[in-house]
Amino acid sequence: MDNRRKAIGASIAAGALGVLALLGAVGLVTAYAGAYNVAATEEHASFTRWAFDTTFRNSVKRHAANVPAPESITPDMVATGAASYKAMCQHCHAGPGVERAEWASGMRPRPPHLTEAAAEWEPREVFWLVRHGVKMSGMPAFGPTHDDRAIWSIAAFVKELPGMTPERYAALGGTADGGGQTN
Ligand code: HEC
Repeated sequence: MDNRRKAIGASIAAGALGVLALLGAVGLVTAYAGAYNVAATEEHASFTRWAFDTTFRNSVKRHAANVPAPESITPDMVATGAASYKAMCQHCHAGPGVERAEWASGMRPRPPHLTEAAAEWEPREVFWLVRHGVKMSGMPAFGPTHDDRAIWSIAAFVKELPGMTPERYAALGGTADGGGQTN
């Protein structure tokens, strides 16, 4: 009886190793043969999209968990953040009453409209995203060029975007032209 169990265990382990080896071989052939189409003119396959999205969201939540928040968010920070957003983010992420730049629609993944997407993230997660960027997505890291105070101003402004009227958006932080198109 014991021997039979051992034999079954050994064949399950051998089977699992075989599957892993096969997956590894398929991966190598795909990489070397150029079989995967990297064209951004094609939408991501649903599995690729799921794998990227799940990894991305869970990674940001985990890495941002211990980011300390500033003592307070002031109207000054929001106004400063608005000017930065219009100059550095609007062309990819649009804004209330302003569409993203035409070329940004050709990105895969396509940068989401933050007027909706910002509601899903905590302020410290927006701060982390802007500071560190997201590899393999086209979301740049602003940490190497901007200090934490400037990045908190941007995060503070981004968290105000959901529900913001086009009039308030236009009035905040001046009219820096970020390359977007006004509707
Ligand atoms: C060159 C285009 C580009 C620029 C510029 C850019 N981003 Fe992004 N951003 C992206 C892309 C692409 C993603 C990933 C989208 C995805 O995978 O769903 C992203 C993701 C995000 C997300 C997460 C949104 C979500 O729910 O997926 C936030 C928040 C964000 N960016 C904020 C900003 C801010 C703030 C700025 C300006 C300081 C900025 N980004 C500048 C392209 C850009």
